[in-house]
Amino acid sequence: MMKRNTVLKIINPVLGLMFLNQILTGFFHGSLSYELFELIHKGCAIIFLIIAVLHLILNWNWVKANFFIT
Ligand code: HEM
Repeated sequence: MMKRNTVLKIINPVLGLMFLNQILTGFFHGSLSYELFELIHKGCAIIFLIIAVLHLILNWNWVKANFFIT
């Protein structure tokens, strides 16, 4: 089983690159073919959102400690 921190060290830069991909392909939407946009903006958006949820789950202790202080 991979450690929580090891998983974060891998997925954090991946999330950064995927976010950049959304911004760039979204911005240059007009220059891309329909098929390419479907694949690298819409397709990657779904994977991006799944990894973002995983990132939130793995950092849930941080979220609790910082936002749900009693
Ligand atoms: C976190 C960032 C983003 C995510 C998760 C995201 C996700 C998506 C998804 C899922 C679609 C497909 C919608 C559909 O076909 O029903 C879409 C479409 C689109 N997005 Fe993004 N997007 C992001 C950022 C951006 C940005 C920054 C821009 C523009 C600068 C942009 C421009 C567009 C455009 C132009 C479409 C096509 C709309 C259409 O013609 O139907 N996106 N986006």
